[in-house]
Amino acid sequence: MNRPLISTTKTSTDIAIVNIEINSDRLQEEIETLANFSEVSAPAVTRVLFSDEDVAARNFLRDRCREVGLEIREDPIGNMFATWPGTDRSLGAVGTGSHTDAIPNAGKYDGVVGVLGGLEAIRALKESCYQPRHDITLIPFTAEEPTRFNAGCLGSRMMCGAVTPEKALSLMDKEGVCLDEWRNRAGYSGDLAEVQCREGDFSAFVELHIEQGPELEEAKEDIGAVTAIAAPAGYGLRILGEGGHAGAVLMPKRQDAFMGAAEIALALEMLAKNSGSPDTVATIGVVEVLPGAINGIPNETRLEIDVRDISLESRDKVLEDFRAKVTEICERRQLRQVWTEFNCDPPATCAPHIVDAVETASAEFGLKCRRMVSRAYHDAVFMARLAPTAMIFIPCYKGYSHRPDEYSSPQEIANGVKVLAHTLKTLAG
Ligand code: GLV
Ligand code: MN
Ligand code: MN
Repeated sequence: MNRPLISTTKTSTDIAIVNIEINSDRLQEEIETLANFSEVSAPAVTRVLFSDEDVAARNFLRDRCREVGLEIREDPIGNMFATWPGTDRSLGAVGTGSHTDAIPNAGKYDGVVGVLGGLEAIRALKESCYQPRHDITLIPFTAEEPTRFNAGCLGSRMMCGAVTPEKALSLMDKEGVCLDEWRNRAGYSGDLAEVQCREGDFSAFVELHIEQGPELEEAKEDIGAVTAIAAPAGYGLRILGEGGHAGAVLMPKRQDAFMGAAEIALALEMLAKNSGSPDTVATIGVVEVLPGAINGIPNETRLEIDVRDISLESRDKVLEDFRAKVTEICERRQLRQVWTEFNCDPPATCAPHIVDAVETASAEFGLKCRRMVSRAYHDAVFMARLAPTAMIFIPCYKGYSHRPDEYSSPQEIANGVKVLAHTLKTLAG
């Protein structure tokens, strides 16, 4: 056969463990195919939860998993569980996976490397004639991205019971279409209470992902063994003022909701910069000005705010100071504030034995590995509540992510898949 195989050349005392061959061409072809299920043209990818493109991507993935002979189950929120049965089915499964939904105008690697890379790792292990004791389950999670319902990691959140079925059913998108209608359209129904996992369902979870930051590339290192995942918080903030005619209302009389929001945005930036923690980040990625006319004074401005830190204390101090600042600005400008909390999650700590396994696997393949934190959030944050969890990072070009020029090379991806396969083998016995 002419297909190129990326295999380890390192000799080891444990031949069985290093006999892992990744078919990089097959994987790259699948990454390219998946990228075509997009609302926008290449290289950009937009794939929002339960859109036609998301459904097409799910169909593609299901077919690939069936080809490999995995047992497929999908839960009522659309999480997929593609299982390679182990020899002892009484043991908790070893999970791996990530997501295939993509925010507007994103790239083709975020999440996808963990899903298709996870599938390739399973194929490589099967082709090496290895037989796991534990089930190995690939999980493409529903809606890691918050785009439709402002609820990031919806699928994994529900798996660990962090969102009740009632709360999930109350979710609505910006057009007023509720979760139930969207999931039915995409072919999912049934009792959402069934999404929550039982204790012992999983014995471990490991997620492969592009770093989404520049550290590995800058240090010329191949693999990140993630030790902790930052604490994310997301809020909607409506600033309400008085509308009016842009020509006729003089400046001292104005209660301009957008000018208040602008001052609030700059205050948040200042608080994040001066938090005393180098890891604090704050973003306002959505701003909607109403009524939205050049000659109308804004009577309302809607902000969507994202604040994170590895340290919960630092993040929460910034949020507390920010709330006080918003109150001060609103009082001075005679505006009103209305808050909605989308999420406010603690950080996740990774399991030392899985971090060790990732380091060992990297060394086995002669890859340079560093321990590091994840500043982005991932389904691993919620899987860590169900089972010992860790993540494997690979470098990406200039740390770019959530933009069309996101890129990791075939070699970098194959390295990550090899390390994932080795780690799964260690965990699955
Ligand atoms: C996930 O995409 C995040 O926003 O960290
Ligand atoms: Mn993302
Ligand atoms: Mn992701």
